[in-house]
Amino acid sequence: MRRGTSNRILYSLFILVVVTFFVLTINIYTGPFSETGHENEITPASPILPKSSEMRRRRDLSLKEAWLKKRIQKSTQSRSQFNGIYVREAYRVSDEEIRFVYLENQDNNMNLQAEIPKLGWQPVEWFCFNASCYDYLFCSMATRFGSIRLPQTSSHQPYIHLTTERSDEYTVVPVNDVRLRPSSHHYPHTLGVCLQPIFFFTDWTVIMQFFESWIAQGATKFYFYLHSYTWQTKKVLDFYKDSLGDGLELLDWSDLPVHARDKGMYDRDPNSRVFRHGATAFMHDCMMRARSVVKFVANTDLDDLPVSSTLNLPDALEKVSTRHPDAAQFKVDWILSHQPQHWDSIHNAKDVNFDLQSVRVLKIENIRWDYRVSKKMFHRPERVMHFDMHSVYRNELAGEKNQQYTTIEMFDNSDLYFLHLRQFERHLMNPLPVEYNNSFNHSLLMKMNTRMLDQYTKRIDGTEFAVEQV
Ligand SMILES: *[C@@H]1O[C@H](CO)[C@@H](O)[C@H](O)[C@H]1NC(C)=O
Ligand SMILES: *[C@@H]1O[C@H](CO)[C@@H](O)[C@H](O)[C@H]1NC(C)=O
Ligand SMILES: *[C@@H]1O[C@H](CO)[C@@H](O)[C@H](O)[C@H]1NC(C)=O
Repeated sequence: MRRGTSNRILYSLFILVVVTFFVLTINIYTGPFSETGHENEITPASPILPKSSEMRRRRDLSLKEAWLKKRIQKSTQSRSQFNGIYVREAYRVSDEEIRFVYLENQDNNMNLQAEIPKLGWQPVEWFCFNASCYDYLFCSMATRFGSIRLPQTSSHQPYIHLTTERSDEYTVVPVNDVRLRPSSHHYPHTLGVCLQPIFFFTDWTVIMQFFESWIAQGATKFYFYLHSYTWQTKKVLDFYKDSLGDGLELLDWSDLPVHARDKGMYDRDPNSRVFRHGATAFMHDCMMRARSVVKFVANTDLDDLPVSSTLNLPDALEKVSTRHPDAAQFKVDWILSHQPQHWDSIHNAKDVNFDLQSVRVLKIENIRWDYRVSKKMFHRPERVMHFDMHSVYRNELAGEKNQQYTTIEMFDNSDLYFLHLRQFERHLMNPLPVEYNNSFNHSLLMKMNTRMLDQYTKRIDGTEFAVEQV
């Protein structure tokens, strides 16, 4: 496939929508009504409260807020039913705790309950993303963080039963055991990547560049969350799945279940109120999934090119973590760059040559302020709790010290950084004409390109994939 005009993309856009539900709807609750709001009300942030008793209080607080809202708006709002809470999977993060992310209406006041061995049905503790229980813009389907406390000695159960208050049905949710082995844990992988959900995706050659650049520098584990994509993209993913085996996990991240007649309606279709296909929920789900499996995990987009001066990311990360044994993440520069492409010469996979020599780094003054200061991170999955693409809101407590694991800033560090490769990004720059940074050392990118091409040539050698017209 040639990538050129948007028209051509439109013609070739044949979206495969993943049909597996990303979630289970817990309970069809038909009792008293709760209201859903259209407004964008941001409540003042309050601190994230760690202790369970305090979490309960937090719940009470937000209940009060919800009530307040209701009373103010009663006359103008229409009523709608409790639509459900959306859960995908849960994680046994420690002997005493199961955690999961879920989505619910921001003013839902129905509590979740979990069935705990010996204790029976217990309320699920929860808190809100970044301590703000109301989402931005019109994204009123909010991501919540649920926590289930277990008695110390509970053996691992691969499932947990969840329900809501006042319901007599429950849902079975799988629980992945991601606990570290006490003393001398062995990670099957040193470096892995959580990739932002793929939705309405057509740009298949970028996926190859993404895989080969990470693999060339030592990554061995990839988590791809898939929403919707073209058949060309599917071919590329199938090819890498064959090639990488367990090193690539393809995870369905489809729309939330909704009745056909409600599709697209702001009030009735939860998908119309989810921020970026559940990006916040995705990144926390992925980071929990990677616990105990991968030692360092980057949470990135397809157009983020990692650069290590030795072309060995695991080695660079191991070194800096030896210097900082209590680090939860390493924050590095994320530098806006141009990567012009010549797609018209690409007729099949064999024609892809990455072209990193054409990458140009922008002069810092030409980058819009917010992009100039934004950074990207490599995390230790068991140590981070609560974060987004560029910031950390909360890390786990470090051992007995009652202090959070730390964030190490590695700015202006030529040993480790990301290039943010963009093709169409005028709005990210200050007034034109744009100037490039000519002191950027391109020889490293050339070396990386050579390594990528070598391994890629071997990978596709003799396969049908190499020569098929796309
Ligand atoms: C997180 O909370 C802080 C403090 O209220 C706020 O300034 C920031 O914009 C919030 N970030 C996100 C991503 O909501
Ligand atoms: C250009 O790149 C070099 C090396 O990457 C960096 O140290 C310098 O600050 C950059 N200069 C500008 C103006 O962006
Ligand atoms: C550029 O990077 C290469 C490593 O790829 C290194 O050998 C060379 O010394 C660097 N050049 C400068 C001017 O720093």
